[in-house]
Amino acid sequence: MIIQVEEKVPVDLETEILKLKKELNAVILAHYYQYSEIQDIADFVGDSLELSRKAANAEADVIVFAGVHFMAETAKILSPNKQVLLPDLEAGCSLAEGCPSDAFKEFREAHPDHIAITYINSSAEVKALSDIICTSSSAEKIIKKIPTDKPILFAPDKNLGKYLIKKTGRDMLLWQGSCIVHETFNQRKIIELKLKHPNAKLIAHPECEEPLLNEADYIASTSGLLNFVKQSTDKEFIVATEVGIIHQMQKACPDKIFIPAPKNDEACSCNECPYMKLNTLEKLYLCMKNRSPEIIIPEDIRLKALVPIQRMLEMSL
Ligand code: 13P
Ligand code: SF4
Repeated sequence: MIIQVEEKVPVDLETEILKLKKELNAVILAHYYQYSEIQDIADFVGDSLELSRKAANAEADVIVFAGVHFMAETAKILSPNKQVLLPDLEAGCSLAEGCPSDAFKEFREAHPDHIAITYINSSAEVKALSDIICTSSSAEKIIKKIPTDKPILFAPDKNLGKYLIKKTGRDMLLWQGSCIVHETFNQRKIIELKLKHPNAKLIAHPECEEPLLNEADYIASTSGLLNFVKQSTDKEFIVATEVGIIHQMQKACPDKIFIPAPKNDEACSCNECPYMKLNTLEKLYLCMKNRSPEIIIPEDIRLKALVPIQRMLEMSL
């Protein structure tokens, strides 16, 4: 792709990014919800748990994180001696933003006997106040390891929380947050779509609301959904998660059909995560060229947040 950047110099962004990657001894990690050209230039594309493991074990000097802020923050917490770059610092997450650390602290203090299991979609400050972090791919395994007499408080995603209560049979106290992308899928339109495509399997991320999950044939994290379509003998899938993942599904299974789940309003692009989509190839290039924006975390917060993240990495093995 040839585009003009600030200095009005035409730049072949892919070539320049690869050059900078060598110069910086950098690794580019990307989430499945990134634009396809970013996924294609990344060294690794994965779900939140896989990306955390990659960040923890990276040998590069610089981690360029093509994802959202909490993901890059987790990478910095795990790899404090590496420079962690995020193409756009505004790339947040509605779940993390809906759970401010002062309110979370009060929630915890109101239930001192509860163990706090916190979804990775949260700020470093909230992680620092938590006992164990989890991702959508590791939560069930982690919850099943908590002694049954220990009450659990789960934050910030109420939809994932409700799904986990059903899966594990554990009664958890839920923070009432949600993802603005996954709650926009329209259940009635999905049922219509299923009737139109009777052979299509509905696959969904557990951040979706309960009525939609009740209709789903398979529920998993982004990587879990990708693995499912790869090994399935079915040919058609309705995909109820952010549309970016369809790029990898189509690449892995060119003969299969992937239908994005219908939104409430056809005119909007609300099945795209507006935060994830703030990162562009141009911003990726610029952050590497300028070595900024960079993730910086106060050391006291980092050390406190590291403990529950490490517990997640150990308990999800
Ligand atoms: P995964 O861990 O399944 O990739 O989910 C991350 C996320 O933000 C989903 O909205
Ligand atoms: Fe957060 Fe939802 Fe975007 Fe995932 S899709 S990063 S949960 S706002």
